[in-house]
Amino acid sequence: MRPQIALLTLSLLIAHGYRILQTNEDGWAALYLRSLFNALKASGHDLVLVAPAENKTGSGSRDEQPRTRLESCHFNSCTVSPQVPETFGENKTQQRLYWVNSFPITSLRVAVTRIVENFWFGKRADLVISGPHSGTTLGSQVLSSGTIGAAAYAAEALFLPALAFSGASEADLPWNTTAIPESSVVYTELAEFLTSRVLDIGEPYLPDNTFLNVNFPKIESKCRDPEDFEWILSRINSIAIEPDVRHCNKNRLPTEAEVISKGGCRISVSLGEGTTKLTAPGWKQIQLRDNLESLWSCL
Ligand SMILES: *[C@@H]1O[C@H](CO)[C@@H](O)[C@H](O)[C@H]1NC(C)=O
Ligand SMILES: *[C@@H]1O[C@H](CO)[C@@H](O)[C@H](O)[C@H]1NC(C)=O
Ligand SMILES: *[C@@H]1O[C@H](CO)[C@@H](O)[C@H](O)[C@H]1NC(C)=O
Repeated sequence: MRPQIALLTLSLLIAHGYRILQTNEDGWAALYLRSLFNALKASGHDLVLVAPAENKTGSGSRDEQPRTRLESCHFNSCTVSPQVPETFGENKTQQRLYWVNSFPITSLRVAVTRIVENFWFGKRADLVISGPHSGTTLGSQVLSSGTIGAAAYAAEALFLPALAFSGASEADLPWNTTAIPESSVVYTELAEFLTSRVLDIGEPYLPDNTFLNVNFPKIESKCRDPEDFEWILSRINSIAIEPDVRHCNKNRLPTEAEVISKGGCRISVSLGEGTTKLTAPGWKQIQLRDNLESLWSCL
């Protein structure tokens, strides 16, 4: 290979790795979150994970100054010592894994002000990923969800595109569990697939001040292979103030709860507005519909 070509190949390989900041509401030690982290890292992305020290499910948009941690983290995933008071900490043997003794939004705030600089030297994240959360985040659950709280904060306050993932099959398991459930494997594959489709769009990835709320169905015998799944463009809530994008020969998108309750191997993908956590207006949905045109199936 000629040196120029070798160099070009190398720079293309490097360009493949995007800077991704990951958080969740289930806690930094949760299996779903860690499985996706490991998979994206193995694909060459440049990840930093910063998430609550414990399960903060249902924390909505809470954001409080982290306090000194006085007890070990969720699932015994960190140890604390009274001699060294810490409000956030890291896995000392594996870089890029951090806990913060507060909520998901606070975790992102601490990440951008105190952590990512160590790895990205002044560069911002390309994308924020929240989750996958163990359990659904559909319709009215969106407002109280810490997974969505973090994604909406990323979109509105950090001006970063954000993907929020949730899975109906619950697995409240630690990162180092030995009996890994199939749901963890499948959700990881699906989340990684959508993440690369969104990154392939190129900047700014999503319309201004928006996030995606993605809900995976329960993993059962017939929904296993990522190929078995259908991706359905949906809306978060049923009350529509502004019209939806025209899609699948309809003027109205199905709600995400309709998509998931219909059964089958269907995944709902709603575009949310960062500021309100409501469905983003049709003129923003158009960009998503067209940018991921080959992804969609009709309900
Ligand atoms: C920290 O990283 C080490 C080395 O990869 C791993 O064995 C351990 O399980 C990790 N612990 C946590 C809580 O991430
Ligand atoms: C986290 O908390 C929620 C709500 O309290 C609970 O339903 C869920 O099982 C908990 N998850 C874990 C991993 O403990
Ligand atoms: C996971 O790691 C924690 C903390 O080191 C430990 O207490 C627990 O026994 C480990 N679980 C397994 C299944 O290895």
